[in-house]
Amino acid sequence: MKIQIINGPNLNLLGVREKSIYGSSDFESYLAELRQRYPHVEIEYFQSNVEGELINKLHEVGFSYQGIVINAAAYTHTSIAIADAIAAINVPVIEVHISNVHKREKFRHVSMIAANCKGVIAGFGLDSYRLAIEALLNE
Ligand code: DQA
Repeated sequence: MKIQIINGPNLNLLGVREKSIYGSSDFESYLAELRQRYPHVEIEYFQSNVEGELINKLHEVGFSYQGIVINAAAYTHTSIAIADAIAAINVPVIEVHISNVHKREKFRHVSMIAANCKGVIAGFGLDSYRLAIEALLNE
């Protein structure tokens, strides 16, 4: 079973950026924990600050992997192109957010991509990614 995690802009700064919202752990340490917890799952990781690179990755894995977990970060709220890429592929995609976007500014309440995803998990800190993997394993 192969699962791709895709992180969008500014998520390379996890552990450094706005720690009161996003926590103090960097993603690589969390990823190591996830891989230990799910030794039978191949968990690939990709992060980019560039919208087109996120789309290229969706195209690359979107016809062969068993699931995709995407935190499109701020592009969640703006990107019709990422929404179209998710609609174009046939691997199930789960949208995740570290913070509870619905408790925050109004512009974060809107997701351009949610309607094309299998489901959305938000507000559980980094554990949102694990919950998304659990959901994919229960497919
Ligand atoms: C985020 C929420 C987005 O609104 C924000 O732009 C991010 C991170 C989250 O994981 O909580 O960069 O996707």
